[in-house]
Amino acid sequence: MTKPSTATNLDSKLTRVGDIDAVIRTVETGDFLHAVETWKTAFGFTDEERWKRFAFEVSDYAVGAFVDDYPHALATVIMFDANFNGRVLKCGGIAGVACSPPMRKKGLVRAVLRDVLKRLNEEKVEISALWPFSYPFYEKMGYAVTDMQYEIVQKIDSIPKVGDSSRFRPVKLSDYEALMPIHQRWTKMSNLSLERNTARWERQLARPERQFVLYLHDDGYMIWNLQDPKDRTLEVVEWAYLTEEAFHDGLALIKNCGQLAFDSAKWIMADLEPFLKLGVSYPPAKVTVKHGMMSRVVNTEAFFKNSGLQNLAVEICDPLNISGHASDTVSSMGPGELIQVATGLLKPADDAASALYKAAAAPVSFSIEQY
Ligand SMILES: CC(C)(COP(=O)(O)OP(=O)(O)OC[C@H]1O[C@@H](n2cnc3c(N)ncnc32)[C@H](O)[C@@H]1OP(=O)(O)O)[C@@H](O)C(=O)NCCC(=O)NCCS
Repeated sequence: MTKPSTATNLDSKLTRVGDIDAVIRTVETGDFLHAVETWKTAFGFTDEERWKRFAFEVSDYAVGAFVDDYPHALATVIMFDANFNGRVLKCGGIAGVACSPPMRKKGLVRAVLRDVLKRLNEEKVEISALWPFSYPFYEKMGYAVTDMQYEIVQKIDSIPKVGDSSRFRPVKLSDYEALMPIHQRWTKMSNLSLERNTARWERQLARPERQFVLYLHDDGYMIWNLQDPKDRTLEVVEWAYLTEEAFHDGLALIKNCGQLAFDSAKWIMADLEPFLKLGVSYPPAKVTVKHGMMSRVVNTEAFFKNSGLQNLAVEICDPLNISGHASDTVSSMGPGELIQVATGLLKPADDAASALYKAAAAPVSFSIEQY
């Protein structure tokens, strides 16, 4: 992990944000007590040790808007390798976005995100991504929804009898590394899927509010949460199936859990086809289409060069003035829309970008990592 850099802080200077003078700089360990106050009031989590690990171990660095040396607005950056168009791009994952209640709606978070994206741009990071609390909020920062996900809730009794559950074996939580090669193969199958390192695996599986069990297959794995099931529904937190057979075997495994403990099961799919091919069951499954991650291009030049789309480079406009000019006189396409167009989620309004439409649409877009 990159440690917070003092060099960056030497460069930090007073910035006028609306009618406030703020210093935008890297969060140092000495700022932690105040930073955690801001995070606690924003997210309602009170576990200080967990926040400390999040800010200084899980995240590569955190940036704050300091007013009178108090970090009123914060965001952390977690660097990921992102799969895109069969290549691996650098992705600045943004998390822990928060503002202390007295200083909200004054533009401080926008100033922090602008600073973060400026740093990422200087480091030639191709894209940035985040899980939004509000889509319109991050649209103003140039992000756009870049994948859709299908949530299935099905009565276990009505799951068709397919597959063989015995191809799965239980794996102890401490042996989670056995799942990692499958996860790597899985992420290679989707656009915008993020690689997960050991530290992130440990964090994902150590969430205090969940109790996980793991099952491993030659071509897949499942992670279930058994803590406090709602409406007698088994929550499949993560289901990697690399083949249709592994999907069927997983359905058989879920089916074996019906009766005493659970009536229904819930899981997420990137693509409905393997499910629809099984035909309609009674009662029918409830399928909900959900927005996935939001992404945007950061360093436009690096993005086109490293994504295999170098012959299709176009100019974009960026409300934060990082990846292109803020004005829309050159182009109406934003940094998030650029990814939507390339992956086929959005048809470009602009003729100049028509060759880019679906240019990177071969793998389905699916963001697996939660952060
Ligand atoms: C969401 C949050 C970070 C916003 O902080 P903030 O300091 O008010 O944000 P800013 O003042 O920089 O706002 C930037 C823009 O977003 C808009 N905005 C602010 N809060 C918004 C909200 N809840 N929904 C939609 N837009 C919002 C602002 O009006 C502003 O737009 P404008 O410049 O066009 O007027 C803050 O309310 C917070 O800490 N909430 C609790 C934690 C949380 O939900 N974090 C997000 C996790 S993904």
